Amino acid sequence: MAKKKSVKDTSKFLQLRSVESGYGKLQILFGVDMDINPSDITLIIGPNGAGKSTILKSMFNLCDVYKGKVMYKGKDITKLPTHDRIKMGIAIVPQGRQVFSGLTVKENLEMGAFMTKEKELINTRMDEVLGHFPVLRKKLYDNAYSLSGGQQQMLAMGRGLMQDPQLLLLDEPSLGLAPKTMQEVFEKVKEIRDEGTAILMVEQNAKAACEFADKIYVLEEGRVAMHGGREILKSDKIKKIYLGGHEK
Ligand SMILES: Nc1ncnc2c1ncn2[C@@H]1O[C@H](COP(=O)(O)OP(=O)(O)OP(=O)(O)O)[C@@H](O)[C@H]1O
Ligand SMILES: [Mg+2]
Repeated sequence: MAKKKSVKDTSKFLQLRSVESGYGKLQILFGVDMDINPSDITLIIGPNGAGKSTILKSMFNLCDVYKGKVMYKGKDITKLPTHDRIKMGIAIVPQGRQVFSGLTVKENLEMGAFMTKEKELINTRMDEVLGHFPVLRKKLYDNAYSLSGGQQQMLAMGRGLMQDPQLLLLDEPSLGLAPKTMQEVFEKVKEIRDEGTAILMVEQNAKAACEFADKIYVLEEGRVAMHGGREILKSDKIKKIYLGGHEK
């Protein structure tokens, strides 16, 4: 894929300001601030239930945002309808892959481009996506349920990329994958970043993901406990709790 147009003011690509979110009366996030750069892989780590997925959902209208702001390219998108967020170039690959198992690989990818009407553009995008994931090209007419876990993850990511996003939200792409397949998925994540798509990724496999993340946020009980570049990995607390090899 060709490198994307660069965003003019990188400091204003994606900003969360004092975000408080949850589900009905159940508040999960308490004043979350984040600054995401368009050329980075930004990683969110933290224990189960800390609210990592809820951060991604706050950006996609999938939970209630009670207070605070989500700013994207300088615009307040906190209350924007989902389809407008997609139009603005945000895509999400939810936790647990969620491909349409009864549809073929090709149909799944086409679903990802549902906002696009032009057949030619869809075909071009599909070609680009299949360039990233050659394994899917071989299985284009197979039903998604016949794919392995790693292939399904690639399909879910491919579907997200069909919208040609500038920001890709990835929720636990390595969940349930064998170490070798996890590394393959991570290689793809890096490739996507290198071609100009910002990545905001949640991962339980902190040790492996921290090796290539540009920026890391540690979330604990709905609050950012620590954030920074890879230098934060030197912190004893991070080493002990998150890099000690306790992986899901
Ligand atoms: N749709 C929902 N309705 C009500 N509560 C929810 C919903 N989704 C998540 N929760 C609750 O919000 C809390 C935070 O969940 P979230 O999925 O953000 O955590 P997480 O850090 O992603 O955890 P995990 O590592 O297990 O994926 C949990 O207590 C969860 O039960
Ligand atoms: Mg989660």
